[in-house]
Amino acid sequence: MRGDEMDHPTTLGRSSLKVPRLGVGAMTWGEPRGLARFHPATMAYGGAHGYQEESRAVEASLEAGVDLVDTAAFYSRGASEIRVGELAQGKDVLIASKFPSGIRFQADDFPGELEASLHRLGRSNLDLYQHHFPGRVSIPDLMNHLADAVGVGKVTAVGVSNYSAEQMRRAHAALADRGVPLASNQVEYSLLHRQPETNGVLDACRELGVTLIAYTPLAGGMLTGKYSAENRPTGFYRRVLPRYRRKALVAIQPVVSLLREIGDRHSKTPSQVALRWLIEDPIVLPIPGAKNGKQAIDNAAALSFSLAAEEVAALSDATRSRRA
Ligand SMILES: NC(=O)c1ccc[n+]([C@@H]2O[C@H](COP(=O)([O-])OP(=O)(O)OC[C@H]3O[C@@H](n4cnc5c(N)ncnc54)[C@H](OP(=O)(O)O)[C@@H]3O)[C@@H](O)[C@H]2O)c1
Repeated sequence: MRGDEMDHPTTLGRSSLKVPRLGVGAMTWGEPRGLARFHPATMAYGGAHGYQEESRAVEASLEAGVDLVDTAAFYSRGASEIRVGELAQGKDVLIASKFPSGIRFQADDFPGELEASLHRLGRSNLDLYQHHFPGRVSIPDLMNHLADAVGVGKVTAVGVSNYSAEQMRRAHAALADRGVPLASNQVEYSLLHRQPETNGVLDACRELGVTLIAYTPLAGGMLTGKYSAENRPTGFYRRVLPRYRRKALVAIQPVVSLLREIGDRHSKTPSQVALRWLIEDPIVLPIPGAKNGKQAIDNAAALSFSLAAEEVAALSDATRSRRA
C-alpha cells in the first residue's frame, strides 16, 4: 500500500454496517460524578484528559477516516456514553455501545437498557449494540430482544463481547433464526494477548463471517514503546495488575525493540506497527483507546501502510508464547 492510500471501509461481519478497519475506544472518556469517579473504567489508566482533548481525538479520527467510536453503558456509569454523544452531535460518527449498565441484569431489562443508552447518546439509533459480558442470562432470549430492536430500527448491527466460540455459535444461531447476522465479537486481542488464536474465537469468527473487534490492542499502552521498568504507566489497573509490573515491562522490551525496528523501515511508531499487525488479518478490527488528539492521529495512521508478510511472521514468532 502506498503511504497516501488508506484501507477502505469494510462491512462489519455480514451486517450492512460499513465500518473503517480501525475504531476509537472511548472507555476512559467523560466526566463521571459521585461514586462513578471510582469506576474501573475511570481509574484504569490514570484518568482522562478532558473534553478538549477528547474532542480533538474525535476530530482527528474523523479527518483520518476513522468514524467508529466504541463506548459502553458500563463505562463510568454512563459518563463515557454521554461524552461520546456530545462529541458526535451533528457529525457522521458511527457509535458502538454495549449493555448492560450494571451486573444485575436480566433479558427483560433489555428494552430499558437500550432506551437509557439512546438517551445518554442523544440518538434514536445505535449503529452497533453489543452484549458486554456473557452471564447467567439466556443467550437466545437476549438475541431475540436484539433482533426486535433491529426490526424497529433502533439498532443497525448486533454484536457480542467476551463471548467464547461456543457462546458465539449460540448467539449466531438464535439471530439467524430471526434473519439477523451476528456482526462482531469484541474480545481482548493484541501481540501480548493472543488467546483468540488458540481458544477457538478467531476460528469461529472466520467460519461464521463475524468481525473480531480487538479491544486493548495496545496492551493498555505497553506496546506504544513509551513505558519501561524505569517509566511505569499510571492508573490503578496499571499499578496493581501483574501484566503491568516492572518484571512484565522488562520481559516485553524485545517485542518493543522489534516493533521499533520494523517501524523504522516504514517511518511508523511502535503503536502503529502493533495495530497494523492486527489489521493485516481482514476480519480483525482494533479499537485503540485514545486520550487525546495526538494519540488518535498516531493510531489512525496504522491505516496508511502495510506490513510485509515476513514482518507479520517475525512479530508473530516473537510473541508466540502469548498464545497460551
Ligand atoms: N469489551 C470489553 O470488555 C472491553 C474491555 C476493555 C476495553 N474495551 C474497549 O477497547 C478500547 C481500547 O482498550 P484499552 O483502552 O483498554 O487499551 P489500549 O487501547 O490497548 O490502550 C489505551 C491506552 O494506551 C495509551 N495510548 C493509546 N494510544 C497511544 C499512542 N498512540 N501513543 C501513546 N500512548 C497511547 C493511552 O494511555 P496512556 O497515555 O495513559 O498510556 C490509552 O488510554 C476501550 O476504550 C474500550 O472501548 C472493551
